[in-house]
Amino acid sequence: MTLPTLQHRRATETDRETLLAMRKSCGWGTDRIDSYISEPSWVTYLFFRPTEDGKGEQPVGMGCLVFDIPGDPTMANREQGVIAITSLFVFPECRASGVGNQTFTMLEQLAIHEYGAKTLAVDTRAYEIPWASEGESSYLKKWYERRGYVEYRPPIRRYAQDNHPDCVDSPDKSVLLYACFLRKEVGKS
Ligand SMILES: CC(C)(COP(=O)(O)OP(=O)(O)OC[C@H]1O[C@@H](n2cnc3c(N)ncnc32)[C@H](O)[C@@H]1OP(=O)(O)O)[C@@H](O)C(=O)NCCC(=O)NCCS
Repeated sequence: MTLPTLQHRRATETDRETLLAMRKSCGWGTDRIDSYISEPSWVTYLFFRPTEDGKGEQPVGMGCLVFDIPGDPTMANREQGVIAITSLFVFPECRASGVGNQTFTMLEQLAIHEYGAKTLAVDTRAYEIPWASEGESSYLKKWYERRGYVEYRPPIRRYAQDNHPDCVDSPDKSVLLYACFLRKEVGKS
């Protein structure tokens, strides 16, 4: 069966529950929801397929572009054209069939062509054992590396575990998970 083409639009206040459901289904908490909707330095996109009757939307994923992070200008900085792609979430039932790849490629194209990015930045879980302080890179880090992203600074402890399904065996739920930081040059400076 051929699935309808993936489409995207900017998320609005009316999408709050859908965005929250995506974030929770990926194991994370509610902390960024307000930024998704109302933070002026963020643009949030909802990715969906049209329903069979063509009148509705079946949400499959989301992602954000962030244009300024004052405390972390290497990740997002309007003046230097550094845009962060964050909160890439695909509903679990929609994964492993190319949705993540398409969604991420669309976010990259939007950042470059709509917003003039010269550098793209991402952060993700550093290690395959999520609560470890070293070891094999996470599949997420490898996923970005396969798409041309290069780690540019050392990992730091950043993410709360919440009730993340990959952390059920973690011996200490209060330990923050290591984040790693990667960038890709996409334009002339
Ligand atoms: C990362 C994510 C967006 C990928 O979405 P997806 O729809 O499954 O992506 P695709 O079908 O395009 O591709 C699947 C890819 O993930 C890899 N992958 C998925 N799960 C994996 C796992 N458990 N172990 C190893 N690789 C895995 C596949 O090898 C494939 O990689 P490739 O395209 O480079 O060959 C999705 O897994 C997700 O939403 N994860 C939870 C949220 C999250 O952690 N987001 C990243 C925030 S930084």
